[in-house]
Amino acid sequence: MDGNGRWAQARGLPRTMGHRRGVDAVHGAVRAAGDLGIRYLTLFAFSSENWRRPAQEVTELMGLLKLFIRRDLAELHREGVRVKVIGARDNLASDIRGLLEEAEHLTRDNKETTLVIAFNYGAREELARATRRIADKIALGEASPEDVTPEFMDSHMDTAGIPDPDLIIRTSGEMRLSNFLLWQSAYSEFVFMPCLWPDFDRKAFEDALNEYSSRDRRYGGLSREIAS
Ligand code: IPE
Ligand code: MG
Repeated sequence: MDGNGRWAQARGLPRTMGHRRGVDAVHGAVRAAGDLGIRYLTLFAFSSENWRRPAQEVTELMGLLKLFIRRDLAELHREGVRVKVIGARDNLASDIRGLLEEAEHLTRDNKETTLVIAFNYGAREELARATRRIADKIALGEASPEDVTPEFMDSHMDTAGIPDPDLIIRTSGEMRLSNFLLWQSAYSEFVFMPCLWPDFDRKAFEDALNEYSSRDRRYGGLSREIAS
């Protein structure tokens, strides 16, 4: 979800207004995902590098997360959305941590769509966390080095149990991954769109899905037409 700041700047508004409109776009995207039959939607809401922003902007982003959970959790729950949060928890304020846990706990048995919120998330940090979890097990004699396969790694990532993303969409025209799901995106399709996140509406979502539908996913193998 990129481009909130530029969206605001283009209108002579403070960046915070862009973030607020960005939350509206989140609502739209979650609803659209449900309607379009997308079972897993991951949103990169706050990266482990976003702490480098001015304190006031960080506070605003934390405030918006709190507002989103307090205001919308009941509705998400009613619609059968399961919330899962990935990222580091230890350096978050306790009220934020509490809200994230509450959201996960309340919705844990829901079956419609899984909304994965990447918050205080960085892929390298996640890989380090997974490695530490595995190293701890080996140190305790609960696993051996030979157990460490890609599947074993999967099951120690924050995303354990969540399928790898088929499609990764980045808005605002930037063409980089910026420390997002490095491990899980090995065979993801990428769609980069010029549209700024607050403008990401259902039409933009459908455009990205149409682009995805035209891709030929080979996973290192051959095209279906050639292989058959
Ligand atoms: C993305 O918009 C929102 C978050 C990082 C939470 P930006 O704030 O990165 O917007 P730009 O890139 O400055 O336009
Ligand atoms: Mg940005």
